[in-house]
Amino acid sequence: MVYLDHAATTTLRPEAANVWLQVSAEVGNPSSLHAAGRAARRVVEESRERAAAALGIRPSEIVFTAGGTESDNLAVKGFAWARGGRRAIVCSPIEHHAVLDPVEWLVEQQGFEVRYPAVDALGRVDLQSLEALLDDDVALCSVLWANNEIGTVQPIEAIARSCREQSIPFHSDAVQALGMIPVNASLPGLTALTFSGHKIGAPVGVGALVIDRDAVVAPLIHGGGQEREIRSGTVDAAGIAAFAVAVESAVAEQENLAARLIDLRAMLVQGVLARIPGTVLQGDPGIGVDERLPGNVAITFDGCEGDALLMLLDAAGIACSTGSACTSGVPEPSHVLLAMGVDAGTARGTLRFSLGRGSTEDDVEALLTALPSVVERARRAGRPRLAPRS
Ligand SMILES: Cc1ncc(COP(=O)(O)O)c(C=O)c1O
Repeated sequence: MVYLDHAATTTLRPEAANVWLQVSAEVGNPSSLHAAGRAARRVVEESRERAAAALGIRPSEIVFTAGGTESDNLAVKGFAWARGGRRAIVCSPIEHHAVLDPVEWLVEQQGFEVRYPAVDALGRVDLQSLEALLDDDVALCSVLWANNEIGTVQPIEAIARSCREQSIPFHSDAVQALGMIPVNASLPGLTALTFSGHKIGAPVGVGALVIDRDAVVAPLIHGGGQEREIRSGTVDAAGIAAFAVAVESAVAEQENLAARLIDLRAMLVQGVLARIPGTVLQGDPGIGVDERLPGNVAITFDGCEGDALLMLLDAAGIACSTGSACTSGVPEPSHVLLAMGVDAGTARGTLRFSLGRGSTEDDVEALLTALPSVVERARRAGRPRLAPRS
């Protein structure tokens, strides 16, 4: 199989798998007072220190969670609930659903108000438009570090500065950014940062929310009071140990990986655009790590249905995505492309190819060889009429 869907989930790192198995084989709840419990606690605290050192933050700033979705929910609801009286949430309209949906839930169920800044045609949040939305009533601001569908990197430093000037907690979802581009976790004005293990070579089911020591966040889950009483539940020593090792490797390898993937991405983009007429690259065409995720390619195929292309490529042994894996299968155009001003029909003809650690020139060659006939077949089938939005 040619796997071009590393943004959905990537391969487990051998070093993370080893430590995961090793710690899983030991009994002991990190909250227990006996020797087995203390040994498990030691694993967790040493892992917290290792991950913090790799990220350039203090160990006490890390709250381990079950992944990106939980960390995003904790940041959004946790800040909204802790900032009593303030009813507005500023978030980009191109967030992952793990941010957008809790925000919408707070609006529908709890009377919050959401304010969306404008996004330009390349998928970059407009700073001036965002700044105009920040005032005393804002409970939190959330803008993802780099978009999972179109790869555009956001002006995080400038947004953090604006939020800091107004003492507004700023959360950024850095799930796709970590290990691909530099992520400054100690950036002034950045209050909370979401990471997910399985996007960096750790197992599925572990992640972290990095939170400023001074920030107040209300817990989503109540119980045993683990993780500074922010996230109750038996602490997953094995998953956390694997996560810490994966964070270390991801940060250490980031620069080399980015350089290699930028070249592979150029080969892929140029190959597709040159061989197949009626194709457009979505997102920022810039090649730098400040502009676009090195492994992300999002291309619109005129006159095609993305899902049909995906299935035909799958039959040819090539795995890719129509955007966020979490919404694949739901016949709705991408909210990210719509926010960028792309029309619904064009949005539905878009595929995401995402490169990762194991990607090779052979993978790209295989795609470039299979794609022309696949696109021809999909174009012959035509694009079905859009389903009415309910
Ligand atoms: C930007 C972003 N945030 C959050 C998530 C969800 O992370 P997890 O799968 O760990 O819950 C994803 C997964 O696709 C993502 O790409």
